[in-house]
Amino acid sequence: MTHDLAPAVDVPVCTAAEVQPPASSSSKGSGWWRDAVIYQVYVRSFADSDGDGIGDLRGATARLPHLAQLGVDAVWLTPFYASPQADGGYDVADYRVVDPLFGDLGDIDDLVRTAHELGLRVIVDIVPNHTSDHHRWFLEALAAEPGGAARDRYHFRPGKGVAGELPPNDWESVFGGPAWTRTPDGEWYLHLFAPEQPDLNWDNHEVHEEFDAVLRFWLDLGVDGFRVDVAHGMVKASGLPDIGHKEQARLIGTQTLPFFDQDGVHEVHRSWRRLLDSYPGDRIGVAEAWAPGPERLALYVRPDELHQAFNFQFLKCPWDAEAMRDVINESLMATASVGAPTTWVLSNHDVVRHVTRYGGGEQGRRRGRAAALMMLALPGSAYIYQGEELGLPEVLDLPDEVRQDPAFFRAAGQDGFRDGCRVPIPWTTEGPSYGFGPGAGWLPQPEDWRELSVEAQTGDAHSTLELYRSALALRRRLPGLGDPAGGEGGAASGSVGMRWLPAPDGLLVLSRPGLVCTLNTARHEVEIPLPGRLLLSSETMRATADTARIPADSAAWWAI
Ligand code: NOJ
Repeated sequence: MTHDLAPAVDVPVCTAAEVQPPASSSSKGSGWWRDAVIYQVYVRSFADSDGDGIGDLRGATARLPHLAQLGVDAVWLTPFYASPQADGGYDVADYRVVDPLFGDLGDIDDLVRTAHELGLRVIVDIVPNHTSDHHRWFLEALAAEPGGAARDRYHFRPGKGVAGELPPNDWESVFGGPAWTRTPDGEWYLHLFAPEQPDLNWDNHEVHEEFDAVLRFWLDLGVDGFRVDVAHGMVKASGLPDIGHKEQARLIGTQTLPFFDQDGVHEVHRSWRRLLDSYPGDRIGVAEAWAPGPERLALYVRPDELHQAFNFQFLKCPWDAEAMRDVINESLMATASVGAPTTWVLSNHDVVRHVTRYGGGEQGRRRGRAAALMMLALPGSAYIYQGEELGLPEVLDLPDEVRQDPAFFRAAGQDGFRDGCRVPIPWTTEGPSYGFGPGAGWLPQPEDWRELSVEAQTGDAHSTLELYRSALALRRRLPGLGDPAGGEGGAASGSVGMRWLPAPDGLLVLSRPGLVCTLNTARHEVEIPLPGRLLLSSETMRATADTARIPADSAAWWAI
């Protein structure tokens, strides 16, 4: 006899009141980040308190109970510093000032305090590869003579050609076009991103000293760590050598380039680690590093460097069991070799949301839910991008006139146009922006997002929101599930205590102490011996006394 095992849940969903605060940053044991689930708040699209259409710090503070109830351990806030917003705040004009768009220092102070009261840690962004062209240093550099000390904080060079009319080398901006812009006095300056984001010269000691002081400023305010933007940048190969061919953006993450993943960058991370360690409470650094392969990425998380590095190899992996297993194995082995946890991520504010990457529509919805269960069953830490817990897809039909991504305006740069993953998230079923704020948001939301809102999904056991809540609650309650060491045993993945059980093509069966996770990437149902007692599943499972029928594009957790 076959019977249906409904999707979900034999653990009650946590209410906010039930959530046990993890030890606060002052009292915690060490290593909280090794298995932490960290929620990315893209501030301008999270919650708008004042009705200007842009999310802000007060709005985010008011919504923190949602994150505590969701069951995450920490939040990462994208840049809220003074900025002309040429690249969504990744062009910082003053690293110690909150942009009035987002609030003021009192607001970030309140946010950090409220988060800590709720048991959430707070990570903020630091942007050290470049400043804004409105930063005091860059204004001083422009006003200085060629060769002047103020120019040495950036990369100014004379051009090539008879009259210096050609850029100093052939480097291209990640956003498309040349990586150099000429100033009125004829010199050129380097910007690996938009022209409004001049690259700093990390051979200049003032740059080191300034960033040490900026890190201390935020650590003194009480933040628990930093997400380091372009952590593979900063140090450039000496002499700024030509690369020799075009379309360099395609090479990022596949090889070491003279402007990315240079060995010298690790000295910066080492000195920051010493600084972080000089503070109480296990403050962390997480690298946004596009490194060519897991071994190079693991260098950023050696014991004396940063704590975590986003695993973009996992994010980019296609919906294919074998490819996923290979990426997972390689990642676990590489990070285990340096004693670090792996940091899993499926979506962020720079990439097409994974529901859409996996095919969109009903297929994307199913795969997105399944991928989340797989990610949260893996040893190590995981990042959740705001709205993925609602199953939000990429918005593909934004009109050109509302777009703000600089890559959109500079043509063939980064993959895709990044506004579609930054649309304000829906909280309620009614209201001009579904609860995002009192008025319309800075990007229009699709009408059917009312059904994807937090309000619409809360209490619906079949919803993606409740799936995430249940998974996170289970992750906390099952001893060892979030444990990056994965408990005892372990085979295919080296020392991480996790095994792959034999499975038919298209199916992954991952075993950890106390838990089996199945993931079916095949286009058809697969029947296997019953793996255990069903705890949680992304789709309805069908079972007999000793077999389970695993539907296409689904994942499940089984207690063993
Ligand atoms: C990575 C950030 O995530 C992205 O949004 C930004 O455009 C670049 N770094 C440049 O700062």
